Amino acid sequence: MRSCIILLFTVLIAFSGCRKDDPQVDDPIVDLQNIAYNPSAHTIPIPPLFPQMVIPADNPTTQEGVLLGRFLFYDPIMSRDSSISCATCHKQELSFTDGLDKSIGIDGKVGKRSSMSLANIGFANRGLFWDGRVSSLEIQALHPVEDPNEMDEKWPNVIRKLQVHPTYQQMFRKAFGIKNNKEITKEMVAKALAQFQRTMVSAGSKYDKFIRQEILDLDNDEFEGMSMFNDNSGGALKDGGCAHCHSPVLFTADNYFNNGLLTDAQQAMTQTRFNVTGFNSDMGKFRAVSLRNIALTAPYMHDGSLASLDDVIEHYSTGGVPSTNVDGLIPEHGAVPTSASEKDKLIKFLNTLTDTEFINNPAFKNPFEQ
Ligand code: HEC
Ligand code: HEC
Repeated sequence: MRSCIILLFTVLIAFSGCRKDDPQVDDPIVDLQNIAYNPSAHTIPIPPLFPQMVIPADNPTTQEGVLLGRFLFYDPIMSRDSSISCATCHKQELSFTDGLDKSIGIDGKVGKRSSMSLANIGFANRGLFWDGRVSSLEIQALHPVEDPNEMDEKWPNVIRKLQVHPTYQQMFRKAFGIKNNKEITKEMVAKALAQFQRTMVSAGSKYDKFIRQEILDLDNDEFEGMSMFNDNSGGALKDGGCAHCHSPVLFTADNYFNNGLLTDAQQAMTQTRFNVTGFNSDMGKFRAVSLRNIALTAPYMHDGSLASLDDVIEHYSTGGVPSTNVDGLIPEHGAVPTSASEKDKLIKFLNTLTDTEFINNPAFKNPFEQ
């Protein structure tokens, strides 16, 4: 009898807890129709020589949407204990990475992979994440909130926090024309985040200024490093083969390769592109990510296992570890640079891809600190 009463009591507490958390029950409906809904188009400037950006028809970029996305990106309200925002793991000064080998989420939990740069993310068309398992920024943005290693929150809780928040009520009205606060959805959150991230275009590096002929030349080592990167040093230096997988102007072929990081046994224990497609030919493959701002985004690779650019060049010059599926362009002691001066030139070229305008651009800064 006594335990029964305790149980009932517990259920009642749990139930009242449920009621409290249920946005439909307790929270007042706030009519927002007196606030004007008149979004202005935000045109994302596409730099010369860049491809067009594919923007989904159902999520046009607007100034109101981008601003909302920027607030959400920097707001820890998205996490269970208000300690983590997207920007915790995607810091502007590090080209929106976090400087760690594996990202650290809520309660100090260490994730499985290294954070990824968001520079020029709007141009990625063949899947996001290291294994390409999500197809769009709108879908990607739904993931971190419920990931137990990242924000570990439930979407209904996030939505409730936003629905009762006077500033967000107005911002969602202005961006998406909702009639009242109860119409805020996670899809709108994701759309706003996607809009903001598409504006993160990086094209202000020394390399960009050189190809746009705004500056006349790279210095000699940088220029020779570029020739090795693009396989056109004419035999004077060892060509690196890099541009096959990290093609200019985005410095990614937006495709998946096995670059010799894992043995067959390690691949079998790791989630790689194979786990997304099921094709044996995708064993051990990862996305050949963009090398823009690469000097800012150490440590390197999906697992953050290479600490510096020196380590990366060393990896390619030794061919990494052998495995069944390793790409033909990553031969052991192959075409990649081997002498100290060749390695140095290649790194000097990679340093020309750093865009300090991008990492200082006020449009991407934390809006809560401005
Ligand atoms: C705890 C750290 C952490 C948080 C918080 C976090 N991310 Fe990430 N992000 C990562 C990691 C790690 C990856 C790579 C994950 C993978 O491949 O499985 C990633 C990948 C991404 C990518 C894919 C980039 C690409 O090139 O494919 C995007 C976009 C992104 N995050 C946006 C966001 C947004 C938006 C938020 C907030 C809603 C967010 N992230 C929150 C760590 C984090
Ligand atoms: C066969 C395709 C291929 C070639 C050739 C290649 N890469 Fe890569 N690269 C990749 C892939 C795939 C990854 C991601 C691998 C991973 O994370 O497991 C990568 C990752 C990198 C990274 C780390 C990126 C980051 O954000 O962590 C750097 C730096 C890099 N490559 C530089 C180079 C250089 C320099 C060359 C030429 C010497 C080169 N790559 C040649 C496919 C290639």
